Amino acid sequence: MENGTAVSGPGMSGSRVLVAGASGVLGGLAARELHLRGAVVALAGRDTDRLADVSVGLGGAPVRGLDAYDVEDCAALAAWAGRELGGLDGVLVTVGVAGFGRVEEVSDAVVEHLFAVNMLCPAAVLRGAIPRVTDGGFLAAVTGAVVDRPMLGTADYAAAKTALSCWLGVLAREGRARRLRVFDFRLPHLETGFSDRPVAGRAPALPKGGDPAVAVHALVDQLEGPASTAR
Ligand SMILES: NC(=O)c1ccc[n+]([C@@H]2O[C@H](COP(=O)([O-])OP(=O)(O)OC[C@H]3O[C@@H](n4cnc5c(N)ncnc54)[C@H](OP(=O)(O)O)[C@@H]3O)[C@@H](O)[C@H]2O)c1
Repeated sequence: MENGTAVSGPGMSGSRVLVAGASGVLGGLAARELHLRGAVVALAGRDTDRLADVSVGLGGAPVRGLDAYDVEDCAALAAWAGRELGGLDGVLVTVGVAGFGRVEEVSDAVVEHLFAVNMLCPAAVLRGAIPRVTDGGFLAAVTGAVVDRPMLGTADYAAAKTALSCWLGVLAREGRARRLRVFDFRLPHLETGFSDRPVAGRAPALPKGGDPAVAVHALVDQLEGPASTAR
């Protein structure tokens, strides 16, 4: 385990947090919100330009590339963040990609991609973080409301998110002895453009989504709050 003091009770000030997926809309917003609340943040993401922009906005937060298919490297992110920040109190994973189509229309390659990005990569990042994060720290990922209400045309995307959700539930129970706070954020549809950049297919008609900034504010409230939110 890295040196340092765990997040204990309300307050994010001084917490050392890895955001994996910080090049995306929700990851970037979460990194900024954590920074505003006094956390020190390490950023991992795929798009190097957007990652650099987020880093500059946070006064030069450390950055590292992230390829969902390189699970060993995903699992190594927490060790890197711990070295950069002098310890690690929490990890938030916002990596994900949508994919749409009726079950018989979706190719095996697309199914594999959806599981690699939405399940295997987040699980690898968090698995690598378990021995690194301080007792009482948090391990968090964004799944989605699709876990509770899968829509037609989302079978494989919903299945990948549901697999991650199940995995997080077991992790929460396994982590109790160390007071690890595990979060499964089942966010509703938000106006980030996420459903407009699927790996395959087209999104079903969706109502106007929620405000991403409001959702991220509430998400960080939960990360910051007392140790009672693991599902
Ligand atoms: N927006 C919504 O309505 C909504 C609702 C519920 C749940 N969610 C979940 O929230 C998370 C963030 O979504 P968002 O709205 O912020 O969308 P986003 O801007 O598209 O963010 C997705 C993130 O995943 C990364 N990513 C995708 N494929 C990758 C790959 N092969 N390797 C490495 N990184 C990859 C993207 O990297 P690059 O940007 O660098 O390519 C980006 O950082 C996702 O897990 C999504 O499923 C979103």
